[in-house]
Amino acid sequence: MFEISVLVSGSGSTLDNLAFHCYDELEGVMRGMATITSVFADRNCGALEVADGWGIPKFVLDTKSILKKAGNVDLCVLAGFLSKIYVPPEMEGKILNIHPSLLPKYGGKGMYGRKVHQAVKESGDSITGCTVHVVDNEYDHGEIVDQELIPIMPEQSADDLEMAVKKLEQQLYPKAILNFLSKQPK
Ligand code: GRF
Repeated sequence: MFEISVLVSGSGSTLDNLAFHCYDELEGVMRGMATITSVFADRNCGALEVADGWGIPKFVLDTKSILKKAGNVDLCVLAGFLSKIYVPPEMEGKILNIHPSLLPKYGGKGMYGRKVHQAVKESGDSITGCTVHVVDNEYDHGEIVDQELIPIMPEQSADDLEMAVKKLEQQLYPKAILNFLSKQPK
């Protein structure tokens, strides 16, 4: 069984989806293969209640302490974690993030949530999507592990894009995590 720690700062919808896919008996794509051992938050946030709901131990700590405590697993997964991370050498290649655009486009400092989708909408691009990538010391920069694409219809607003990409993220992240883990030496 792969052990995962999840790092959060926000509402916890990504955490909720990952826990669902670890534990749901019928639809969990990671069920029996991965378990979330702890949730770490850098602030008080809704995701802590989500952790409680799934009975997962949770900790609120500063980012440095989180990285010290969270690394003792097969994989650390960022799920709406907003603080800057400096990856300790022992955790290189062991942290994944999901970003709501087709990186390397629309990533970097300050590019999160609605801002990403507004930039995509203003660009006139005809496709958008989401990216799972390895976390390194630059925002939204590490090796791309997986991406999922959708077309942009002219009538879609930034809000519509946010909703559509969120749905896509929920499908992609559990699959990409499992795929990534299965390629790691155990
Ligand atoms: C996700 O949509 C993802 O793109 C980004 O943060 C959002 C998660 O927020 N990394 P939350 O899980 O609802 O807190």
